[in-house]
Amino acid sequence: MGIKVSNVFYTYQKKTSHATQALSDVSLNIENNEFVALVGETGSGKSTLVQCFNGLLIPDKGEIEIDEYIVSFKNRKSRKLKNLRKHVGLIFQFPEYQLFEETVEKDVAFGVKNFGIKGKEALEKAHLALSQVGLDESFYQRPPFELSGGEKRKVAIAGILAINPEILIFDEPTVGFDPESSKELMSLIVNLHKQGKTIIVVTHDMNLVNTYAEKVFMLDNGKMVFSGTPSELFSHIQNYDRLDIPSIIKVAKKLKEKGMDLPLENIRTIEDLLPYIEKWREKDV
Ligand SMILES: Nc1ncnc2c1ncn2[C@@H]1O[C@H](COP(=O)(O)OP(=O)(O)OP(=O)(O)O)[C@@H](O)[C@H]1O
Ligand SMILES: [Mg+2]
Repeated sequence: MGIKVSNVFYTYQKKTSHATQALSDVSLNIENNEFVALVGETGSGKSTLVQCFNGLLIPDKGEIEIDEYIVSFKNRKSRKLKNLRKHVGLIFQFPEYQLFEETVEKDVAFGVKNFGIKGKEALEKAHLALSQVGLDESFYQRPPFELSGGEKRKVAIAGILAINPEILIFDEPTVGFDPESSKELMSLIVNLHKQGKTIIVVTHDMNLVNTYAEKVFMLDNGKMVFSGTPSELFSHIQNYDRLDIPSIIKVAKKLKEKGMDLPLENIRTIEDLLPYIEKWREKDV
C-alpha cells in the first residue's frame, strides 16, 4: 500500500504567540518500493512532515495511512505507534548527536533491543548493519565519541538499518560528507532500494534528486506545491535560483532553446545528452 497522506496540518507551539504552522493541508501518495525525494526551501516543513511518517509528531488535522498503521490526532494514543517506528526508520539530519552508548556495537544494538530482541541475536543484527555501512569488526568496541563525523553518521545509520524497517527516511543524508562518502552512502541507499525498501530522501541537493529519485515532492511554506518526476520538476521551475537545478539540465534546456531536438524528460546525465550533440554535429557538417 505505501504511504497515503491526506490533508495534514501541523502547528508548533500551538495556542501560544509563537505558534508556527509548519504543514498546511498536505496530501501525497508514496507507493511501496518507490524512491522519493522531498525538497523545498529551508523552513518549508520537510522535516516536520517526515517526523509525522513515523509518529514522532502527530498531525493536528488530517491523517497518514502507512500500510496497516494510521497516524492521526484521534489515534495518537494507539499502542501500535511504537511498532510503526520499526516499520518506518527515520534517520535524522544529524543522527550522530544521538549516539550515547559506550561502544559502537552497543549503540547499534540499542534500537534492536528496544523491539524485544535480546543478547546474541541483537548483536548479530548490529554486526550485519555495521557491515552494510562499511564498518568492520575493528569498530565494534570503540566509543562512538572517538569516531570521525562521517563514521558517527554511519554508526547512527546502522542503528536504524539493524531494525530492518520497510520504509527508510533519510533527512539530508549527505550534508557535511565529502564526495566519496556521499557516493558510498548513496550506493548503500540504492542497494536498500533494490532490496525492496521504500526510500524517502529529504534534500536540497538537486543532483541527488536528478540521479536517484523516481518521484519528487516539493513543499513551500508548509504547502505541497509540486509532485511529479525530477524532469517535470526541473521544467516546471522557472526561477533557477530558488532550486539549484543540475548544470546538465540547464545545458540541455539551453540547447533545446537553440533548436536542438531534445526530449528533456529523458536527459539526466551527460551520457544521455551526448548522442543528441553528436546528431546535431552531423547535421551541421
Ligand atoms: N521544534 C520546533 N518548534 C517551533 N517551530 C519549529 C520547530 N521545528 C520547526 N519549526 C518551524 O516549522 C517550520 C518548518 O520547519 P522544518 O524543520 O520542518 O523545515 P525544513 O523544510 O525541514 O527546513 P530545513 O531545510 O532547514 O531543514 C519552520 O518555520 C520552522 O521554524
Ligand atoms: Mg529539515
